[in-house]
Amino acid sequence: MADAVTNRISVVEGDITQQHVDAIVNAANTTLLGSGGVDGAIHRAAGPDLLEECRALGGCQTGEAKITKGYRLPARYVVHTVGPVWNGGRKGEDELLASCYRKSLELAESQEVKTIAFPAISTGAYGFPLARAILIAVKTVTEHLTRSPSITQAVFVCHNDRAFRMYLDALAEVAGEPANAPGKREREAGDADRDRGDAYAAIREQIDGQLKMIEAVHGIRIVNCDALADTLARAAGDRTQASRATAALNSWVVINNIRGEIEIPDDMIARILEQTTKK
Ligand code: APR
Repeated sequence: MADAVTNRISVVEGDITQQHVDAIVNAANTTLLGSGGVDGAIHRAAGPDLLEECRALGGCQTGEAKITKGYRLPARYVVHTVGPVWNGGRKGEDELLASCYRKSLELAESQEVKTIAFPAISTGAYGFPLARAILIAVKTVTEHLTRSPSITQAVFVCHNDRAFRMYLDALAEVAGEPANAPGKREREAGDADRDRGDAYAAIREQIDGQLKMIEAVHGIRIVNCDALADTLARAAGDRTQASRATAALNSWVVINNIRGEIEIPDDMIARILEQTTKK
């Protein structure tokens, strides 16, 4: 996968209703009239005007998507998509789930959305196995972003550490980067310095992108951003570790409800570094 696409995809642990992106995606049902799970949370946060607009849409078929305004949400739009109910995997569930991501991206692009956040569609009430759904999500979004330049950031928002790790595994798999890939070891010794420089540059670029995304999503400014990115890029051995580091920072920002300008304190940087090198 091209680096440019890797840098346009991030994973955060948190609540999708709180994301400061242009559009968030809702895992709705065919009535589009709201219910529990992420759907209920989005309707509660957006307020009653969202339901009123949804009523006028006449429902939505599985694998399709419709768009509304975001009302009281930080996001300008909500893309409502209907994931498949898991039925054993032989009823076209994989294709329908991929279609949800594709159609959501196409619809968002038609409204000039640049940043979009997705929940793990179908993995709650609809019972789709989590790892399988996450791999489909990551593959489909990556393929779409590779073809289409207009979305600058797609964010996968997950609720827990287990899902978070599954997203990182799926991103590594799609990028063709198994965590302990052989190869470098076997190259000429003279390539080692250049390899180290290239690896730093690639990881630094990824971290810069993810820190910018954290700033944009939470509406904050990290004053020691440059030094932090340098420290993290030097500590991270690969992209997975880099993502783990920025995810730890993201969780800290969410949990502490950070607003405005912030200098990330040294003790927090030490904790992020622990996360960075965690196996
Ligand atoms: N932010 C991010 N993710 C969330 C949030 C939230 N606020 N709330 C729930 N999730 C996660 C769940 O942990 C799950 O992994 O979203 C995923 C999707 O779960 P559901 O909301 O149950 O969606 P789905 O499985 O697609 O089922 C859709 O549920 O609420 C109804 O109307 C909806 O009938 C439809 C069905």
